[in-house]
Amino acid sequence: MAEVKPADQALDAALALLAAGEVVAIPTETVYGLAGDATSGQAVARIFEAKGRPRFNPLIAHVASMAMAENFALFDPLSARLAEKFWPGPLTLVLPLREAFGIHPLVTAGLDTIALRMPRGFASGLIEALGRPLAAPSANRSGRVSATTAAAVAEDLGDRIRLVVDGGPTPVGVESTILKVDGGKLRLLRPGGVTAEEIEQAAGVTVERAGDAPIEAPGMMTSHYAPGAAVRLDAREVYDGEALLAFGPVRASGAGNAAAVQNLSEGGDLREAAANLFSFLKHLDRSSVATIAVEPIPFDGLGEAINDRLRRAAAPRDAMT
Ligand code: TXA
Ligand code: MG
Repeated sequence: MAEVKPADQALDAALALLAAGEVVAIPTETVYGLAGDATSGQAVARIFEAKGRPRFNPLIAHVASMAMAENFALFDPLSARLAEKFWPGPLTLVLPLREAFGIHPLVTAGLDTIALRMPRGFASGLIEALGRPLAAPSANRSGRVSATTAAAVAEDLGDRIRLVVDGGPTPVGVESTILKVDGGKLRLLRPGGVTAEEIEQAAGVTVERAGDAPIEAPGMMTSHYAPGAAVRLDAREVYDGEALLAFGPVRASGAGNAAAVQNLSEGGDLREAAANLFSFLKHLDRSSVATIAVEPIPFDGLGEAINDRLRRAAAPRDAMT
């Protein structure tokens, strides 16, 4: 079983494992990541192996500085402005790859672009100490809900990895926003911790939704983030035996009969709801109900990312990989 170590005591142990081509689960501001040296084929292969992830799905490379980022990707002026504004933070930029600079091709799955992000906190110090970028998908088995606590990582991956660094619950709670800058246009490949409105404000350019083009971000398969129970969205009524994922001060009818209730945010705050989303879904799933009913959640701000993850949690499971 993996050792779970508090972040303030874990730097040396994490570094030693990474330098040996091993993987380590680490906290970031969004969700926990399963990290390995992005220049090591062995490390990257171990990430895929531990997650049980399809190989064609490329990974985000995490950097600790703009200088490190510029070694691996070409920044146009608009991307540079967005990096300046939102890094470190929950924004991933898809940029042209500078191939000669050592990122292992398994990270990009052979694409000529690379997804880069600069995280905050423990992850940043670790990358700086290693001196190389870390490839890190969310630290969960492929197809499962992302982990926002060290305990959730240990439960899901503990028998497959050696170390989980515990930095407490992740403050943002949903994954980073993935954005592609393309000839002065901004395409949202995945809604996430930075809202489309915040990006538009900083860029002065409209953010275009990727729509139904899952090929753009190959990991964005429809069924993803799946709990064991079925998920029923926009519930205004709770049926017998269902668990309820609530939002805001007003309850769906029949809520009193729900097998279990968790409220993402009593006050209707979308930031709080995002931070609670994955742990509350897991909690309700543990009550072994057949269905989790989810109250309507507004689409503005972080609501776009929350609704995106819930839609994937509710998608038919046979689409899952
Ligand atoms: O918040 C996050 O982004 C977390 C933390 C750990 O940083 N990471 C995360 O990674 O969510 P992951 O692997 O679960 O999701 C990465 C997404 C996938 O959908 C993948 O297809 C997409 O990024 N991606 C990676 N490289 C890409 C590229 N070159 N072009 C388009 N999409 C890419
Ligand atoms: Mg993931």
